[in-house]
Amino acid sequence: MAEVVIVGTPAEAGGIAAEFIARLVARKPDAVLGLATGSTPLPVWTALAERAKDPARPLDLERVRGFALDEYLGLPAGHSQSYRAVIDREVVEPLGLDPALVHVPGDDGGPVEGAGERYEAAIAAAGGVDLQVLGIGRTGHIGFNEPGSSLASRTRVKTLTEQTRADNARFFPTPGEVPTHCLTQGLGTILDARHLVLLAFGEAKAPAIAGAVEGPVSASLPGSAIQLHPQVTVIVDEAAASGLAYRDYYRFAWDNRLAFER
Ligand code: F6R
Repeated sequence: MAEVVIVGTPAEAGGIAAEFIARLVARKPDAVLGLATGSTPLPVWTALAERAKDPARPLDLERVRGFALDEYLGLPAGHSQSYRAVIDREVVEPLGLDPALVHVPGDDGGPVEGAGERYEAAIAAAGGVDLQVLGIGRTGHIGFNEPGSSLASRTRVKTLTEQTRADNARFFPTPGEVPTHCLTQGLGTILDARHLVLLAFGEAKAPAIAGAVEGPVSASLPGSAIQLHPQVTVIVDEAAASGLAYRDYYRFAWDNRLAFER
């Protein structure tokens, strides 16, 4: 079962995830991070940027490497909502990462055909992802693995659902400008990361979180694939946790974790 942490605020969640990353980087200065975009991970990057500036606890992120989960297809190069641009603006710059060490699917200049295989090869050459930050969509997607995605899927082209396009329309001038296709790491790719940290906030995410954490493992709710992974931390606010049957137990387990787990 995933470790589920129920917090009061997204900022608190960001602080916990940032601490996981800080500890990883202290142990492995060239750690490989898996990077999610969207609104959910923003408190993680904010907390990590603050943590990196704390003179009392030095943290050097210069050698950290990164692989984004996904990228839209069909946006003009340099579009402000391309995930390459979003990752540069929201992650690389505030954290002071080396942009040459941070990759987004399809940004290697090659054709879309074969981009998934090339991305998989790049992740493998980097030694795999140490810690994967994940959000979850209302369809239950992680990455852009929409319902029906194979639990063994690898990086490939996917078609977004109308629900996901509508949810992401807030980032575009008009809903029609949200791309219909993307390149996304597969569920099998995500499961290869050594630690999964899935965050979710707000009531709209409660059904997806309940299904991912406690529902049957099914391609119909792709986030449920996390149940196949041995090291998962799910960090949610009260609203996103509201559909979890065992939330009292998760609180008890977190409050009573042993000294070596803290
Ligand atoms: C983003 C990604 C998606 C988002 C999900 C939630 O790279 O892979 O799975 O994490 O769509 O998006 P937000 O956080 O904007 O609600």
